[in-house]
Amino acid sequence: MRICVGSDHAGFELKEAVKAHLLTLGHEVEDVGTPDPGVSVDYPDFGRLVARKVVAGDGELGIVVCGTGIGISIAANKVRGARAALCTDPYMARMARAHNNANILAMGGRVVGVGLALDIVEAFLSTSFEGGRHGLRVDKLESQA
Ligand code: RB5
Repeated sequence: MRICVGSDHAGFELKEAVKAHLLTLGHEVEDVGTPDPGVSVDYPDFGRLVARKVVAGDGELGIVVCGTGIGISIAANKVRGARAALCTDPYMARMARAHNNANILAMGGRVVGVGLALDIVEAFLSTSFEGGRHGLRVDKLESQA
């Protein structure tokens, strides 16, 4: 799978750990930055970059990380067609895919440890959208955008 990742400085370390894990699982990864954790940057820039790529089909799914995951998920969700889900456990990640057809996973690098984050990532990647009644609801979301 081709996965687009991005973070601000506060999410950098977790983004790097996620990226390394995705590569060992055999995924193709595009990293939009930030490249330098020592430089303070703005999470909206990286949330938008990842979301635009995912919506354009340049990446099947996206993963975004900031300090809490909140700001970067809000930023990603400003892009029409993006459905970013902030997840703090694997159950949320499964449901985000199964019920919400989330195409972007958001996490907080200052909230979840690496081990939990990798479980969240695996749950997100291994779950498919259930469609059916959930499809009608996601269609409503899109028509409201
Ligand atoms: C950066 O200090 C921090 O505000 C940012 O990473 C994020 O947590 C915002 O939602």
